Formats: sequence, C-alpha cells, structure tokens
Amino acid sequence: SINVLWAALLGYAFGSIPFGLILAKLAGKGDIRQQGSGNIGATNVLRTGSKGLAAATLLLDLAKGLVPVLIAWNLFWQEIGWTALFAVIGHCFPVWLGFKGGKGVATNAGVSFGLGLLFGGVYAVTWLSVLAITRISSLAGMAAVVVTALVAFFTGETTIAYVLALIAALVLWLHRENIGRLAKGTEPKVGSKG
Ligand code: G3P
Repeated sequence: SINVLWAALLGYAFGSIPFGLILAKLAGKGDIRQQGSGNIGATNVLRTGSKGLAAATLLLDLAKGLVPVLIAWNLFWQEIGWTALFAVIGHCFPVWLGFKGGKGVATNAGVSFGLGLLFGGVYAVTWLSVLAITRISSLAGMAAVVVTALVAFFTGETTIAYVLALIAALVLWLHRENIGRLAKGTEPKVGSKG
C-alpha cells in the first residue's frame, strides 16, 4: 500500500540527518569525513578529541532511529519494518552526502529500542560488554547487531527478525574495512587515533 512508501520515507527523513558531520563542523573540527576512518559516526567523532561531541553524536544518531520507529507505531504500525530499515539506510546512504554515510550501529540501536525494549536491551548489553572487554568499537557494534537479530528470531517476531537480519547484513558489509583491520590486528581501540 501507499503506507509502505510513507513509512520508509519517515525512517529515511530522520535517518539521513548526518549529525556527526554537522556537530563536528559546528564545533570547528572541520569535515569529519577527512579525518580518522572518514566515518561520520560517534567513534570517529571521538577521534577529534572531544568526548562531549562524540557523546552527542551517539545520542542523536540513536534518537534518529528511535523517534521515527515510535512515530510509526502510531501511524503505520503494519509497515513499521520499513521505517526501521529505512532509518538505518538513511544513515548509511544519505542523499544529502552523495549517499556516503555511516555504518549504522548507533541508529540501529535506536531502531532496536523502538521495536521493543527486549531488542534494545540486548543490543545495549552486547554492545557495552564487548566494548568494555575489547575496547574496539566496530567489533562491539557488529556483535550487538548480530546478537539482536538472532534474539529476534528466537522470540518468533518474524517481521522484526527479518528486518534486523537485513540491517545486520548491511552493517557487516559496511564494516568490511574494519573486518579486514580486525583480521590483521590493526583495528584501533576506542580513544586512540584511527
Ligand atoms: O559505528 C561505527 C563503528 O562501528 C566503527 O567506526 O570510525 O572505527 O570505522 P570507525
């Protein structure tokens, strides 16, 4: 139905706002895409040396996944999967930046919370524990994405499970350079320059 289009557009409109790029620019840190890993996410914003800026990026990138999914519960709950998927797609492929965006970890955290407290909780716990143990942001993000999708399959929430699995595949693909560095043992730890 036409609602699929509106649901997807709602997700994309929020997801495609490049908060990391905007905040770093406003704070006088220049173009974040020319620094560190070149990514527009909180991990790379942290490499500018500002913890506050990185925290704000993380929270806003999370909010732009959460808010459209919460709106979709009220407006298009039957099509909520499209809103969820396109919030992450918007972050990863923003039309405003020539479709070159981020890697989806923070936005998918918000999306997962929006789809259910269980999913958001599993996501947050996995992310934080792997981060605490390894200090490697990419590894923590990928673990959270995959574990949450698996949990969704076990709960029998089929639509949510498929959406989270699709997002997980996308997030892993976007981390292919990180995976290469992880394999070589050269992936930087959080707080060090990338
Ligand atoms: O969320 C992105 C993170 O998983 C990796 O970022 O800058 O280390 O490639 P980065």
